[in-house]
Amino acid sequence: MYQRREITTQERLQQEQYCQRVRALIAHRPHYALVDTYGCQQNESDSEILRGWLVQCGYELTGSEEKADLIAVNTCAVREHAEKRVLGNVGALAHNKAKNPELLVCVGGCMTQQETMRERIRRSYRVVDLVFGPHELWQFPQLLLETMERRGRRGAKSRLIAAAPSEGVVAEGLPRQRDNQVKAWLSIMNGCDNFCSYCIVPYVRGRERSRRPEDVLAEARELIRLGYKDITLLGQNVNSYGKGLEEDTDFPALLAALDAIPGDYVLRFMTSHPKDATEKLFRVMAESEHCAHHIHLPLQSGSDRILRQMNRRYDRAGYLEKVAAARAAMPDLVLTTDIIVGFPGETEADFADTLSLVEQVGYDAMFTFIYSPRTGTPAAAMPDPVSRAEKQVWFDRLVQTANRISAEKHAAYVGRTVRVLVDGATGQEPYDLSSRTKGGRLVHLAGDPALVGQFLDVKITDSTTWALYGQIE
Ligand code: SAH
Ligand code: SF4
Ligand code: F3S
Repeated sequence: MYQRREITTQERLQQEQYCQRVRALIAHRPHYALVDTYGCQQNESDSEILRGWLVQCGYELTGSEEKADLIAVNTCAVREHAEKRVLGNVGALAHNKAKNPELLVCVGGCMTQQETMRERIRRSYRVVDLVFGPHELWQFPQLLLETMERRGRRGAKSRLIAAAPSEGVVAEGLPRQRDNQVKAWLSIMNGCDNFCSYCIVPYVRGRERSRRPEDVLAEARELIRLGYKDITLLGQNVNSYGKGLEEDTDFPALLAALDAIPGDYVLRFMTSHPKDATEKLFRVMAESEHCAHHIHLPLQSGSDRILRQMNRRYDRAGYLEKVAAARAAMPDLVLTTDIIVGFPGETEADFADTLSLVEQVGYDAMFTFIYSPRTGTPAAAMPDPVSRAEKQVWFDRLVQTANRISAEKHAAYVGRTVRVLVDGATGQEPYDLSSRTKGGRLVHLAGDPALVGQFLDVKITDSTTWALYGQIE
């Protein structure tokens, strides 16, 4: 049985001391750091901690690669495409280093948790000074200091290639630089125990571990006090929140407790595994004051045979029952999903099952992916006879269907008045504000940037596949 390990206050304070020592090393002139993030919201959230540490270490944050004295890349391993992009971009940093030999290049995140990838970086990407895994984020200052001290040594000793075992830890109280004043991530758990047969996440993010409810609630209260209006609870499978905690709690209970915090804000969450989405959850959502009526409920496939091979632990009928129950509780529910096309052994008939289920459910938006084999996962060892070209044909058909349905769903908003939260100024005339409905649909508006952070009623005047256009009432 996996034991959760909580980082002690003592251990955290020690990291702050390492920050002081880094600070002293770079005090002679301003130093700039850039954090480049790939992958999911969990990684976005981790990058906020990384930036928090860097600021505490004395760095100023920059968006400019030329200006940067330190570039940290927070990587994603979920598909080969993501990994290739990272490696291409990291390789290209050799030019920056040629111009500025003092540049420090740090690579963290999910990719680095794979032994083969660490080896590859060690051998072929000499531009990288520090490699650290997601389980070491809490001790980044110590690793950074050690990297700085190693510089100038010869050969292998000049770089630090670290990676903690992937069981992972729970760390509270780490510094965080949020980059948006309206929307905030709130991580409630880490890791995944589901082991879907195609997925690398359980291997790189480690076992599922939840933060204590009191810590989550305290952070939420603080965010609301600071004026954040849109809070997204994060976890690979938020529906299994609470497993392994001493307290007898679960995700609906946490959601209800969060909802009870007074204030004008929206609560969202990502992601829900269909097997664990319950009527209790739908009821809490329906009865809550703050919770968005939006569920991202990844389907992956509409074929029972493929779902079994994927180890998803639900079938087509079970999935449809959950959707019906959710819609019965919330008639205005916005539903989005993820689908993988071309899983090993998938046939034309399996794909047709996916298409028909997509039509039947009618998603507001879909994220579609072509299957990418991940070394070490069970699916990577399964026979995969269908050609890439054929998969691409299926994929294009699915995307066409998805787009048609999204466009229809969006068109149905035209003429209606909806409440939105203005979450950004785009600076692009004439629609210079971006906003979201409570269900999470994007609405472009024209208006004063001073409206950012406000809830407004807007009349929807136009729509496309991807967005709505509105007028402030
Ligand atoms: N924990 C989330 C998803 C994390 S990964 C969940 O279970 O819903 C996000 C999405 O990437 C998945 O839903 C899946 O559709 C896709 N994905 C994961 N592994 C993949 C792979 N090997 N190839 C293609 N897509 C993949
Ligand atoms: Fe991957 Fe499945 Fe876990 Fe999602 S639930 S992170 S798809 S193993
Ligand atoms: Fe990628 Fe890691 Fe998220 S593999 S999708 S960044 S958990």
